[in-house]
Amino acid sequence: MKGFRVAIVGATGMVGRTFLKVLEERDFPVGELYLFASGRSEGKTLEFKGKEYLVEKLGEDSFDRGIDLALFSAGGEISKKYAPIAASKGVVVVDNSSAWRMDKDVPLVVPEVNPQEVKKHKGIIANPNCSTIQAVVVLKPLQDRYGVERVVFSTYQAVSGSGYKGIKDLTDGLAGKGPSLYPHPIVNNCLPHIDVFLDNGYTKEEMKMIDETRKILGDDTMRITATTVRVPVEKCHSESVNVELKKDFDLEDLKELLGKSPGIKVMDDPCSNLYPLATVAADTDLVYVGRIRRDESVKSGVNLWVVADNVRKGAATNAVQIAELVIGKN
Ligand code: A2P
Repeated sequence: MKGFRVAIVGATGMVGRTFLKVLEERDFPVGELYLFASGRSEGKTLEFKGKEYLVEKLGEDSFDRGIDLALFSAGGEISKKYAPIAASKGVVVVDNSSAWRMDKDVPLVVPEVNPQEVKKHKGIIANPNCSTIQAVVVLKPLQDRYGVERVVFSTYQAVSGSGYKGIKDLTDGLAGKGPSLYPHPIVNNCLPHIDVFLDNGYTKEEMKMIDETRKILGDDTMRITATTVRVPVEKCHSESVNVELKKDFDLEDLKELLGKSPGIKVMDDPCSNLYPLATVAADTDLVYVGRIRRDESVKSGVNLWVVADNVRKGAATNAVQIAELVIGKN
């Protein structure tokens, strides 16, 4: 396969650096590589496949050099401004921010769930929110087999979801210092507050989970509610996912179905204390599911505990998988 001209916007950030790692691990056919960040990082170098690459300051002319593909993770404002500029120059943008996710002309893709949507892009493809990605990987096979009536998400999200600043609040807190990013200390706390509060009392993170799940699963009317919580964990989001199904199910069949579905590893043997943990999912690309049990309070419900690495499957790996679909790799 020919080498593609690939750009990374936000290359110095936590997700940006993981893009480089994942591209290298998956042997993505990179011909030329261009790294962009803010003026603060101009002149820094980052390594890819044993070679040092210079970080450039992002500007309106950054894409004027025949770039095929750009992976963006530099925040919503940068994506809003620069993704259309890149797309207008023939670049296919895979954007990790929330800026374009709900735009009707922008596919929102999780390759295990709705790979066919990639083909509909008009220059920008959105990578979903980290907590949404791991949830829909698990919901998709249940939707296909049984139909999904209602979902209740309760999340326990790692500080790496806030980039390096989130990790700094955790390490500073452990050293006895106060927070700089979060409104309260993250050490010894669970903060029921991720992103900003909206008029309906939900946080933006909660509404992202609701709206993005509906869009990815192609069901605008799916009944979903969410409570998203930041916890003092460095890597991996853990989620309690309560699902009411349309059809009745046999619990063993449902477990088998999940075990055979792409991207999922069932880890469910409570008698041996075996269930998904952040420390197990960290640095992997799988979505781990366990504590699979009937919700005995409704006619046809199931409770799941779902854990994945938010920076890898929840961001960088999913984006690289999308890029692979774009170029027809795998
Ligand atoms: P920089 O390191 O130069 O600030 P994280 O989410 O881990 O904080 O990373 C954010 C990424 O977005 C970093 O690579 C950061 O670069 C980049 N970024 C922030 N502001 C800008 C900007 N104005 N132009 C380009 N990149 C930016």
